[in-house]
Amino acid sequence: MRAKLEAIHKQAVEELKKAQSVTELEDVRHKFLGRKGVLTQQMRQLKAVSAEERPVIGKLANELKEVLSSELSKRSEELDQLQPREEEEGGLFDVTLPGKRPTLGKLHPITQTIELVEQIFGELGFKSVSGPEIESEYYNFDALSMTDDHPARDEQDSFYIDEGILLRTQTSPVQIRIMEREKPPIRIIASGKCFRRDATDASHTSMFHQVEGLLVDKRVTFGDLKGVLEVFVKRMFGSEVRMRFRPDFFPFTEPSADASISCIICDGKGCSSCGGSGWIEILGAGMVDPEVFRKVNYDAEKYTGLAFGMGVERIAMVKYGINDIRLFLENDMRFLSQF
Ligand code: PHE
Repeated sequence: MRAKLEAIHKQAVEELKKAQSVTELEDVRHKFLGRKGVLTQQMRQLKAVSAEERPVIGKLANELKEVLSSELSKRSEELDQLQPREEEEGGLFDVTLPGKRPTLGKLHPITQTIELVEQIFGELGFKSVSGPEIESEYYNFDALSMTDDHPARDEQDSFYIDEGILLRTQTSPVQIRIMEREKPPIRIIASGKCFRRDATDASHTSMFHQVEGLLVDKRVTFGDLKGVLEVFVKRMFGSEVRMRFRPDFFPFTEPSADASISCIICDGKGCSSCGGSGWIEILGAGMVDPEVFRKVNYDAEKYTGLAFGMGVERIAMVKYGINDIRLFLENDMRFLSQF
């Protein structure tokens, strides 16, 4: 019986080598290891072997079975690599099978909102620019008239990296950097990440985005500011939307205002989205303070400027009716795939 097993092994290995395809290989597997296969049949005859020889022969047969199956899988891998896939050959390919749709990526809703804002102002002649996220106190505060003792400095509690170096709390420092480099007329839009040490809740995150606009030229008026923002608001939220200005304060603009739009949910009647007021505040704005012009060596007698800044998350939340800012950071596909 031992000799028989050896013969089976030899024959199997030879046939294995000859197998040229996975199908042929399957035939070999069937012939030797199948339910009625040569080896299986042989093992059934163990009963006929003498009692003392049985364990030895049984062990041998089992080992042979294992060796054969591992050789079969080895050869199957070889064939797999050797043979081009049938579909690659242009051979068998079932065109009625449902295809595998690749998952397409999309831009994040915040990026989409920034691009839309930039596009709207771009059509009004504003050029997109950017500035560093790590800023010096000078650009982030001092040049914008937010001196050490200025209360606005506390309002924008900051992340300091080093003495006098911090993560910018607003995009307004980009205004200064541009005005230092370029002479009027200026018409820019700057967007990017801002950072404040705010506790996270449904309307605050310590990282958020702003878009900033600045226009400097001769004879720029508050009327221009209202006109530019009116166009923006209608393009962004719809032509029925009304805009309202209220006096506000920013250290680097005078006069300053905040702009609100009529609530797009209740059309100004008052609902839970607008806290019953009918209005939703969406941005801060004002005429550039002459003190800022002095810092960048612009002639404040000759030029005036308008500036505005808005939180991108806020704009997106109002536009799409989102009630929790944290959704933008959770990367939940059920949320993101809606944009
Ligand atoms: N940077 C201001 C803020 O973060 C917004 C602003 C920008 C106001 C430009 C006026 C002009 O609050």
